[in-house]
Amino acid sequence: MKTYKIFRQISWALVLLNGHYGWTSENSSFPKGFAWCAATAAHQIEGGNSNSDWWEWETSGHTRSGDRSGAACDDWNRYAEDVQLLKDLGVTRYRLSVEWARIEPTSGHFDLQALRHYKDEIILLRKAGISPLVTLHHFTLPLWFAKNGGWEWEGAPAVFARYVTAVRDALEDEVQDWITFNEPSIFLSLGYLDGKFPPGKKDAAALGRALTQVMKSHALAYHILHDGKVAQSGKKIRVGLANAVLVLDPKISWSPIDKLLAHSADKKFNWAIPESLNTGVLKFSIPFQVSINLPIQGLQGAEDFFGLNYYTRNLVGFSFSAPHFISIAPVEALDSTHRSDLGWEIYPEGFYRAMKTAHELKPDLPIMITENGIADAEDSRRKDFVTSHLQQVLRAIQDKIPVEGYCYWSLLDNFEWNDGFSPRFGLYKMDYATQKRTLRPSGIFYGEVIKKNSL
Ligand code: GCO
Repeated sequence: MKTYKIFRQISWALVLLNGHYGWTSENSSFPKGFAWCAATAAHQIEGGNSNSDWWEWETSGHTRSGDRSGAACDDWNRYAEDVQLLKDLGVTRYRLSVEWARIEPTSGHFDLQALRHYKDEIILLRKAGISPLVTLHHFTLPLWFAKNGGWEWEGAPAVFARYVTAVRDALEDEVQDWITFNEPSIFLSLGYLDGKFPPGKKDAAALGRALTQVMKSHALAYHILHDGKVAQSGKKIRVGLANAVLVLDPKISWSPIDKLLAHSADKKFNWAIPESLNTGVLKFSIPFQVSINLPIQGLQGAEDFFGLNYYTRNLVGFSFSAPHFISIAPVEALDSTHRSDLGWEIYPEGFYRAMKTAHELKPDLPIMITENGIADAEDSRRKDFVTSHLQQVLRAIQDKIPVEGYCYWSLLDNFEWNDGFSPRFGLYKMDYATQKRTLRPSGIFYGEVIKKNSL
């Protein structure tokens, strides 16, 4: 009898504890209508994007392995097959990007066939019951725009606005959800501070100029999309950004200097852009190099949802040998079960923290997980990765954080920028020699989760 009572108490304690973290089996269901999604980006899958700055970057030998995007997954020609893959998976949403370099291959000349191509693809998606989430800029630029000075160019926002208007006019009948820019903090810091992305600069002042033009471009694009005839006729459209959130913790947890550096890096890297949308004022500084405090017309409130990309965390510490005395790096000495093939720590707790902070900053906005995924060629960790990260989504939902959907990155293996083709993020495995796509066991698992709407 006594043993039974103790057992019952322990069981209750476990139930309560589980309930707190949202991990009980009864809580493993997602809300009705939760958006299940897979994500890709044009340059990484389409192939043949020869009018872009990235094509030139690859051709001039900048990628680590010498890989060039080339034919990539040939999705430009095989998009119908890829829509079928999405359908087989059971997703209700697909995050894709349209390629500016194809749509406007020379300044002011729009390729109507390229626009038609995207329209056909999106119509096919909708017929399959999949609603598109369309990104307008996912890292790549038309070469002519890059040569004009890229994002540093003061004429950039007007030219971007012209491109957005053309895309809007071609696709607005079919698209409700738009993303203007993917991860501005990433492509700007890698392109202008680290020199690892085009234009390959290491110049904080240039970073400041580019950030300013990007935020002006976002504000213009937001209003252009809302001013379209479809939105004006009363149909609801939504526009957001895909924000990269890299959790940044102090390298030495008790060190006041590391804490300060981590806090400041977190504010600048993760939250300066989202905050600028709250206030309408872009504030960004790097001591002695750049200091921006600029109101931008139309920026305040120019977002209808918060797009969140989360992968991992890094540690921030003081270091004499690092540039600017700050080292930002993954946790060292992790065994392979705790990191991805790219060495990124698998840290689901950080996902919850990212959603929570985003919600605190944007209490009125729904959150869409626009990317989360793992490079795992052997497919030995992806199932657990997806499970542990979706558990954090459930935990967030239970804590009243309005997460409306989840995009796994990526539908299929693809061209991972400077890292070339070796990182394998796909639910579908690519054989690049034959262009054959094969659903991985973790992809089968993701499909089951979608079907059950439950973990
Ligand atoms: C990014 C992009 C994707 C990547 C993915 C994996 O974050 O760099 O949005 O294009 O491929 O995040 O690194």
